[in-house]
Amino acid sequence: MTGDTSFEGINEAKADWGHIYNRFDPRSYSHELDKLDYVIPDNAKPIFQKLIGHLQQRRGDTVHILDLGCSYGINSATLKHDLSMDELNKHWGQKKMMDASSDEVVAYDQQFFSDSNVNEDIEMVGLDQAENAIAYGLASGLLDEGLAVDLETEPLSALAKEKLAPTDLVTSTGCVGYLTEKSFDRLLPAVNEGQQPWIANFVLRLFPFDVITKSLDKWGYVTEKLDGQTFFQRKFASDDEQKQVLEQLSEQGVDPTGKEDEGHFLAEFYLSRPMKDAAEVPIERLLQS
Ligand SMILES: C[S@@+](CC[C@H](N)C(=O)[O-])C[C@H]1O[C@@H](n2cnc3c(N)ncnc32)[C@H](O)[C@@H]1O
Repeated sequence: MTGDTSFEGINEAKADWGHIYNRFDPRSYSHELDKLDYVIPDNAKPIFQKLIGHLQQRRGDTVHILDLGCSYGINSATLKHDLSMDELNKHWGQKKMMDASSDEVVAYDQQFFSDSNVNEDIEMVGLDQAENAIAYGLASGLLDEGLAVDLETEPLSALAKEKLAPTDLVTSTGCVGYLTEKSFDRLLPAVNEGQQPWIANFVLRLFPFDVITKSLDKWGYVTEKLDGQTFFQRKFASDDEQKQVLEQLSEQGVDPTGKEDEGHFLAEFYLSRPMKDAAEVPIERLLQS
């Protein structure tokens, strides 16, 4: 269905993955999305790592990250444990994993992640509406803190606000679109309690980010898009999904030629920083150095 350019309307063009987002462990998530070559966490990793390096230099050793729509803690696995999507999918796709109960998967994963190359300088807080995914993220050790909250409909609790105050960097992959400006309006007062964090979103070209930018503007942020670069998110789930997405893009005035018409969802990178930080170094130079 096309013609509706609200976040909700645009989401109708995409396949629905709700059934794999809130399981007791990540096996189905990994299995289903691996089939579609879901790679945005891998593609986001070098950019997030650069930002973490810059923030470490400015703010000290431990970088407090809030990962929005963190699901089972995937960006923690790539950033804090230095794993790739391929390594994660192979791990969760092993025969012993297929035969295991969810409790056994959690026990295997505690060992697997503690044996990995852990970056102790990252503290990872995950936020997602899927409470089972958050519970897994905490139990497996991927998340240092977890907030099971639907920011589209619920305010943050006082405890959640306290946990978010030290945030240095907000990250998201595959999440904007589910989260709209409503979520950012609820989040910004909490994360602006301490030093203003940098906010780093990988956003499908399908979604208009300007509505969210306007919310960020009110808090003194400057948002820059990394020009001239697109990032593979995943393959289309079907010809029908691709057709609907191409129609939706065209209606929004986004040309899919040589891009989505070749078979993949593409994301762009948006970085929002406090005005003073953005004035010091533009995004291109920041990500080169
Ligand atoms: C495509 S997954 C991305 C997960 C992870 N960031 C990654 O790239 O692997 C989208 C995530 O957004 C979460 N989500 C959807 N609506 C949400 C909401 N209103 N509030 C918080 N999380 C939400 C889903 O539960 C799911 O975990």
